[in-house]
Amino acid sequence: MKQFLSVSDVPDINALIAKAAAHKAAPFASSHLGQHKMVINLFFNSSLRTRMSTEKAARQLGADVITYDASGGWGIEFEDGTIMNANTAEHVREAAGVLSQYCDVLCVRSFPTLTDKEADYADRIMKAFVKYASVPVVSMESATRHPLQSLTDCLTISEHRRTARPKVVLTWAPHPRRLPQCVANSFAEWMQAWGEVDLTIANPEGFDLAPAFAPKSIVSHNQAEAFAGADFIYAKNWSAYDDYGATADLPDWIIDEQKMALTNDAFFMHCLPVRRNMVVSDAVIDSPNSLVLQQANNRTWAAQAVLGSML
Ligand code: CP
Repeated sequence: MKQFLSVSDVPDINALIAKAAAHKAAPFASSHLGQHKMVINLFFNSSLRTRMSTEKAARQLGADVITYDASGGWGIEFEDGTIMNANTAEHVREAAGVLSQYCDVLCVRSFPTLTDKEADYADRIMKAFVKYASVPVVSMESATRHPLQSLTDCLTISEHRRTARPKVVLTWAPHPRRLPQCVANSFAEWMQAWGEVDLTIANPEGFDLAPAFAPKSIVSHNQAEAFAGADFIYAKNWSAYDDYGATADLPDWIIDEQKMALTNDAFFMHCLPVRRNMVVSDAVIDSPNSLVLQQANNRTWAAQAVLGSML
């Protein structure tokens, strides 16, 4: 793999899941891959899991790792031809070129604006790093996708499924802030490309994901109907795609025990961080069917599979 931005960069999803599982079984068995190699993690936004798991993965592969909080560094310019007389001090052409000389893999996290749909959905920042870096680029979450999370979710579902083809429901859930569509887009994209689950997406009217990620045939606006017979409930909030960045106060969409009772004793999944009793009730997230900590653990093995493929 020369880049890891979306599922389309993965030639064989099951082979990558198998690699992640192999790293989980023997974390240090591939510690030769990263010897004398450097991984740089560049964060424009906050993180707990992605930062820690990607650093851990790099180290377990024998690589050294530098994490750089770009929000505290020089402001980076992404427009070409601009007169840089405002807040940006350095152009991405130089920034990506310089960082490429310091590392063998460049990992980047950059969230969307949620105000400029066109720029966000062009994945302008991530694409600029790919264009101007001379080393492989890994998305640690871009304006549109979170592929390391999605690979993790495939691994977690493959570990816990009770049937060959489980019913998986990605459901919108309430949140007090407006959030990106990345995790939901990416989850939908990977589940469809993987082809080993039946995916339904439940969301309120007005919150359909972009058609490229969520064909109308798999979208339901009735959460209770969607939950019927589900084997996995994957909860996430996202702001609107059509009325770009809009939110809604819909507390009835919370995932609680009553709704989980409609399912086929489903597992509960969430990428974290999660707001308790807003997105999901304490009873559901604390239940034996909650997989949120297993998902967070699997972030390391997914990152190790991706970095290992590049190193
Ligand atoms: N799930 C996830 O990406 O968590 P962080 O934002 O803490 O990295």
